[in-house]
Amino acid sequence: MWFFQALPLVFTGVAIACNDEHAHSHSHVKREFPSVPLTPPSRPLQWGSLNIIHTTDSHGWLLGHQKASFPEPNYSGDFGDFASFVAHMKVLALEKDVDLLLVDSGDLHDGTGLSDGFPPGGVDGHASNQFFKELPYENFAPHFPGRYLSSNVNITVGGVSVPVGNRFAKFKTRKGRSVTSVGVLYDFTDNDVGTTVQFVADMVQEEWFSAAIEDEPDLFLLVGHMPVRFDNWPLVYNAIRAVHPLTPILILGGHSHVRDCLQFDGRSIALESGRYMETVGWMSADLPPPGTRPNSENITFSRRYLDPNRVTYEFHTGQRNFSFDTVSGRSITKGLEQLAVSFDLAFEYGVAPNDFLLSRFVLRVIYFQAELSDTTSAHLTPPTTQSYHSWLRHMLFFTINFASQLISLQAMPVALTINNTRAGNPHVMITNSGEMRFDIFAGTFTKNDQLTASPFADSFLFIPDVPFSAASAVLPALNGPSAKKRRRDQGVEAELWARGYVEARYREWLEEMYQRDLQHRGEERRAAENLTLGYVTTDVRSHAPGVGDDVPHTPLPFFSSPGFIASALPDVADDTPIDLVFIDFIESELLETLNSLQTDKVYTTADVSLYSDVLLSQALGLYAQQVWN
Ligand SMILES: *[C@@H]1O[C@H](CO)[C@@H](O)[C@H](O)[C@H]1NC(C)=O
Ligand SMILES: *[C@@H]1O[C@H](CO)[C@@H](O)[C@H](O)[C@H]1NC(C)=O
Ligand SMILES: *[C@@H]1O[C@H](CO)[C@@H](O)[C@H](O)[C@H]1NC(C)=O
Ligand SMILES: *[C@@H]1O[C@H](CO)[C@@H](O)[C@H](O)[C@H]1NC(C)=O
Ligand SMILES: *[C@@H]1O[C@H](CO)[C@@H](O)[C@H](O)[C@H]1NC(C)=O
Ligand SMILES: *[C@@H]1O[C@H](CO)[C@@H](O)[C@H](O)[C@H]1NC(C)=O
Ligand SMILES: [Zn+2]
Ligand SMILES: [Zn+2]
Repeated sequence: MWFFQALPLVFTGVAIACNDEHAHSHSHVKREFPSVPLTPPSRPLQWGSLNIIHTTDSHGWLLGHQKASFPEPNYSGDFGDFASFVAHMKVLALEKDVDLLLVDSGDLHDGTGLSDGFPPGGVDGHASNQFFKELPYENFAPHFPGRYLSSNVNITVGGVSVPVGNRFAKFKTRKGRSVTSVGVLYDFTDNDVGTTVQFVADMVQEEWFSAAIEDEPDLFLLVGHMPVRFDNWPLVYNAIRAVHPLTPILILGGHSHVRDCLQFDGRSIALESGRYMETVGWMSADLPPPGTRPNSENITFSRRYLDPNRVTYEFHTGQRNFSFDTVSGRSITKGLEQLAVSFDLAFEYGVAPNDFLLSRFVLRVIYFQAELSDTTSAHLTPPTTQSYHSWLRHMLFFTINFASQLISLQAMPVALTINNTRAGNPHVMITNSGEMRFDIFAGTFTKNDQLTASPFADSFLFIPDVPFSAASAVLPALNGPSAKKRRRDQGVEAELWARGYVEARYREWLEEMYQRDLQHRGEERRAAENLTLGYVTTDVRSHAPGVGDDVPHTPLPFFSSPGFIASALPDVADDTPIDLVFIDFIESELLETLNSLQTDKVYTTADVSLYSDVLLSQALGLYAQQVWN
């Protein structure tokens, strides 16, 4: 090893992964190089005396985003490309004679076929995690003894509860800086049997914690699967600040899938670097030489959110296409491609006729004019004035293709009635829209696409003979204001958060950036016309220094879906008994709602049985086989 690499890391070992949402899509043939011209970053990275490359919530997206629909090509870099990038950056760090650390904040699996498409008997993420060991992370026990940090997660082995990895690590960087590091998991309650997650508030009270932070290092490096905002980092930060008022504290967070950065004070910074290998985070800090007593001056920090693709990587490493790949990088890419083949991820269920997006519109525009193609799909980007008129003139009608409508109106009714003796009964089928985790793009729909779009292996249950009048009122009631209030009052949202469901937080972020963009139409809009689609991060409100996004973007349009979605209602009389079908995840809420809508009968779990052997994670594939072939 020609350089010292330091990076603690938070696990996401086999035992403890939160099931937060994700997903993704790709074609079977890995697009080796971007197939569309990509915009290079706007400016060089700002280096400090200590620098960090940060990944988090990669969820198996190691082959990068391979679909051609925008903005997917922006995230087309694969893990081999990333390895080459890191190797070149390490060389640059040596040349500049500064520290460069590589840190990951967890959630390595649950999201693509590479991590979740394993054959029967396999273990989630086992094969894909091997590739992380090829990079100079130090986060996988036992491959990286001493650097696999799990400060508040225990596993029970032979009846004894022990920390999964190390609770803390003390090490020196290549430049001799002493670092004290902990690895924290947010207050997660849906952990596997045999594991314990200690709440962060309790962890900071532990004697081992006080002892670990007692001696003053040159810096604290806090790594965690915990969002930098709206969560418990202040508890850890305050515990350290109480002892060391001036020591630099660098925090690398994750889990809520957003780009975010804030400072708790002028000598600390907290960075979160998105999700699904759509972002590689960069942080730099101008720290004094090792052993210098800290003063009270603000530290100069920078942070940047890189769009992971070869153009970005080559730009920042000063490499060209022909010089960029390292031997190790190429071999990681080949290994990942082989893994995709051995998991048969290219198995094709059918061909998706157009994009189905979670929160963006896709308009299917049917034109009058014969010389134009009959059917064109277009993302709804705000049209310019002229194009808007020509667009209206040519438009005959359009349909909106939301991914949620695909699963509710089309896929569930087809997939769940295959080989089902109850298929002939009228029914209504209900699921929560959070079960869909990623967009579906036009073109081949493969095993990998199915796993990225809808990975949860949830079952469908049903209650027979519910009067149509009550069954048809369930969906509006679930989406209605009183249900929302009840969810809040009963702490349902907080409970879902504790169980790992983060999609709501991510979608709020998308909505916020789109709304902000709408409010600033006009001058800025025109200036933005040449910008490409992507994330627009405005964490500056938290005094985070400088510009965040490496490539300026215009935000993705955002339109929210209702929390619950359902199949089309059958055309029957009010008193007709029908099958009320629903995803198992919402059982208690559904029963409560049904009982609030009618007084004829109090429904309980005793009235509920399995509707179909088909799991949610299979529904889109079965539908595609029937309808998209
Ligand atoms: C990002 O995607 C846009 C399309 O929205 C494309 O035009 C642009 O070149 C891409 N830029 C980068 C850096 O990937
Ligand atoms: C974790 O393991 C340590 C060592 O066995 C034990 O002292 C501690 O109480 C455990 N923590 C929890 C929360 O179970
Ligand atoms: C130091 O940083 C803090 C937090 O970002 C900020 O509030 C303060 O104004 C800064 N002080 C100076 C002198 O720049
Ligand atoms: C980059 O190099 C590869 C071969 O190493 C080649 O296939 C590819 O077309 C090149 N891409 C560009 C943009 O030149
Ligand atoms: C339905 O039944 C047929 C014939 O037994 C079988 O080949 C097929 O796999 C079944 N489909 C599902 C989704 O169970
Ligand atoms: C957009 O790009 C074109 C071509 O590069 C350029 O002529 C035009 O001035 C740009 N528009 C804005 C608003 O930057
Ligand atoms: Zn995650
Ligand atoms: Zn998570």
